[in-house]
Amino acid sequence: MWFTKKKEARSKKYFSDEWVREWKGALEKSEHYKVKGKDWNASVLLRMEPPSTALKKAESIGFYLDLQYGECHDLRYAKKADKDLAEVILKADEATWLKLIEQKKDPAMMILKGSLKLEKGSLVMLTNQKEAAKALLQTAPSYGKEELDEEYISETVDKIPARKEHTSFNTTKRGLNFESFPMKLFQKAKQFGIWDPSAINFEKDREDWKKLSEEEKTIIIHLSSLFMAGEEAVTLDLLPLIQTISKEGRLEEEIFLTSFLWEEAKHTEFFSRFVNEVFVERPDFEHFHKPFYKKLFYRQLPEDLNRLYTDSSPMAQLKASGTYNMIVEGTLAETGYEAYHKMLKENDLLHGLQDGIIKLKQDESRHIAYGLYLINRLLDDNPDCKEPFEKHLEELLDDATNVIHEIFEPYDVVPFGLEKEWFLNYAIKQFQQRIDKLGIY
Ligand SMILES: [Fe+2]
Ligand SMILES: [Fe+2]
Repeated sequence: MWFTKKKEARSKKYFSDEWVREWKGALEKSEHYKVKGKDWNASVLLRMEPPSTALKKAESIGFYLDLQYGECHDLRYAKKADKDLAEVILKADEATWLKLIEQKKDPAMMILKGSLKLEKGSLVMLTNQKEAAKALLQTAPSYGKEELDEEYISETVDKIPARKEHTSFNTTKRGLNFESFPMKLFQKAKQFGIWDPSAINFEKDREDWKKLSEEEKTIIIHLSSLFMAGEEAVTLDLLPLIQTISKEGRLEEEIFLTSFLWEEAKHTEFFSRFVNEVFVERPDFEHFHKPFYKKLFYRQLPEDLNRLYTDSSPMAQLKASGTYNMIVEGTLAETGYEAYHKMLKENDLLHGLQDGIIKLKQDESRHIAYGLYLINRLLDDNPDCKEPFEKHLEELLDDATNVIHEIFEPYDVVPFGLEKEWFLNYAIKQFQQRIDKLGIY
């Protein structure tokens, strides 16, 4: 009871007249914001929908901020008419704004997660200015708890012992469960996953290649380099997860995972064949692997998957699947393949490459579906892991969006009409759909 009263008292203070004045004063004085916000020159409307009691009292829809190069020229309650005036409008409910203010959550991340909506303005500009947005919200008066930064679950090392003998068999004891989701995925894998990269004809692709400009060749080499290494990484790093599932005796899941690894191996073969058969000379592929790409594919993925050799706890499995299925496959690869295929189709180019990508996308959708199944199962059995799992995804999603920024960095105008905004929007949409299915956040 005491706790409830205290909470009520705290929420009454927020968004009041006094709170707005206090925020304005803090923002005007903040040296940190002056530095982080030095490139921000736009008026912002922070909308609260539905409005809190304090806002209703003030007949306001949120807060209007006039921000110019690190200086705050105005911060006041916003009226409906400010919707036309503001260059950027962000909308969220009261709970989300409190989360941003009290727990100092990253606003760019909340947009990606879908709880903060960008109603007006450019997502690219906002993700470029995410440090300014963070610094801005940090100056808002907070009466609550700061970031809950303690680890909820200690990183217990949980080693499943190697199997010394079989005491019985799933097939003879209970029978194989053909109705289980992994077995259904396995049936689909046998139906749609049987395609042969060596049967794809790249003859027309070779002809197309000769006609491309240097800039067009560069972007195709660039994207192919990211996909080729990415497919190799997921081929090399899947094994510890399969081993963990096998040790737990989950036969149906292991059966599906045999097709999963086989398909990743074919994807690696497919890109290697394409570049060998189409590119006249072998370019320096690794030149296109920039810091955030390296962070995710060279380090994070092997680290999170290979941890399972020594720690197969539910949290370690969640981290592995979160990195592999949710971020690498579900956010980056899916976005990349969709954009790559769209670009080739619209320009009527490289039909062999197009064919392979269509097949590969089907395979990937089964991999992601399995990942969601696994994460759901783990979270259902271990609800305490939810919070640290969200935190893990949050960090990696930030890296994934930085990979997208990194891809576009070298180009003033990207050939074939590729757009960063499209990439970011698609990646966010995919991520949001997945977390909706998982019911997290
Ligand atoms: Fe793949
Ligand atoms: Fe995959």
